[in-house]
Amino acid sequence: MKYRQMGKLGVQTSAFGLGCMRFNGEASGDSTIDEQKAINLIRQAIDGGVTYIDTAYVYLNKTSEIVLGKALRDGYREKVTIATKMPLGAVKDRESMEALLAEELKKLQTDHIDFYLMHGVDKKEWASFKAIGAPEFFDEMKREGKIRFKCFSFHGPYEDFEYILNDYDWDMVQIQYNFMDVENQAGLKGLKLAGEKKIPVVIMEGLLGGRLSKAPENVQALYDAFPVKRSAVEWAFRWLCNHPEVSVVLSGCNEPEQIEENLRIFDTVEAGAMDDAELELMENVRRAYLDRTKIGCTGCKYCMPCPNGVNIPGIFSAWNNVSLYCTDPAKDWGLKRIRENGAGADQCVGCGACEAACPQHLPIIEQLQCAWGELS
Ligand SMILES: NC(=O)c1ccc[n+]([C@@H]2O[C@H](COP(=O)([O-])OP(=O)(O)OC[C@H]3O[C@@H](n4cnc5c(N)ncnc54)[C@H](OP(=O)(O)O)[C@@H]3O)[C@@H](O)[C@H]2O)c1
Ligand code: SF4
Ligand code: SF4
Repeated sequence: MKYRQMGKLGVQTSAFGLGCMRFNGEASGDSTIDEQKAINLIRQAIDGGVTYIDTAYVYLNKTSEIVLGKALRDGYREKVTIATKMPLGAVKDRESMEALLAEELKKLQTDHIDFYLMHGVDKKEWASFKAIGAPEFFDEMKREGKIRFKCFSFHGPYEDFEYILNDYDWDMVQIQYNFMDVENQAGLKGLKLAGEKKIPVVIMEGLLGGRLSKAPENVQALYDAFPVKRSAVEWAFRWLCNHPEVSVVLSGCNEPEQIEENLRIFDTVEAGAMDDAELELMENVRRAYLDRTKIGCTGCKYCMPCPNGVNIPGIFSAWNNVSLYCTDPAKDWGLKRIRENGAGADQCVGCGACEAACPQHLPIIEQLQCAWGELS
């Protein structure tokens, strides 16, 4: 296992961090957990050199922290740093923040949390949490030793990331990043900004929740033609670890074989180790994925709201995702929500209001029907 320094914190960490969000396939909506299997996976990772474990109050129907607490008995707690997250939806005031942290410490069977994160905070939420004293709460908990580091995780646009990062004395930040998200969310710009401020960065969704682990044909052809043979997973992780700003790459493994493979990969990863040919390959891979894009919808939402409730950008985004990553539309969460909310393309009456507003001049009415047909 390769270890890295966490920016300004003076803490060493394993480059591979285990994510505790997916045991038994939460991604497919099944949040029941095979407790013994999850405990075995966690201990397998730690025995293999992993020192960073990520969980959250809400994961796996609120059971992830409990299982992690059990896995870290018998001397395992001392071998790792734990990251967990404050569930923002449950926070009303100072008392609720205190109660939630106390509950998380109890579930994790520990007297302190190493990395305590505001979970998926956005700019608007950050303003409201400031108003109820969240920054002071984090400072006090740090002084009292209940948390070691003040952190946040983030999924919004870069501008919000920059604002939140600059607005408080954060110790660490967790962002979604992978070779397909270079210009999405915090993106490469956000990673560089954190690096300039010496704030360590922890990566989530490095395989896009597993979608980058199975390459479609046109991508696999590029991997196959390259002289050095590596799995899609290895290329994705190596590309991430090539960034010196990255401290930890999280991955939520479901099977012992996945932990085994990831331990092997993270034995040799180095920042700045990829040569020009390897970087060119990854750029070509990214383009090959993008070639599979169905429609050039930018998600700007100028076409919204549709008077008939059709979620136009949501349907186009699902259409693109299913095509890019060859996933099953029945397992697409966004699409499931669109169907549940009655916001499908079957509600379109062809009024044309959306097409008049679209800056990309997309033939929305016709394309919605194509998308809906392919996604059904
Ligand atoms: N703070 C937040 O808002 C937030 C959001 C997302 C994630 N997270 C955290 O970040 C962690 C990492 O994100 P992630 O779980 O999305 O990571 P990821 O690495 O992008 O995806 C994990 C999935 O990749 C597949 N995988 C992993 N290793 C593999 C291997 N060696 N071979 C083949 N497939 C492999 C598995 O998919 P299969 O299911 O196909 O087996 C696994 O479920 C999470 O567990 C969670 O702790 C936080
Ligand atoms: S054409 Fe269809 S999708 Fe577009 S605004 Fe009218 S009803 Fe909504
Ligand atoms: S206005 Fe056009 S580009 Fe923007 S979200 Fe709607 S369909 Fe997509």
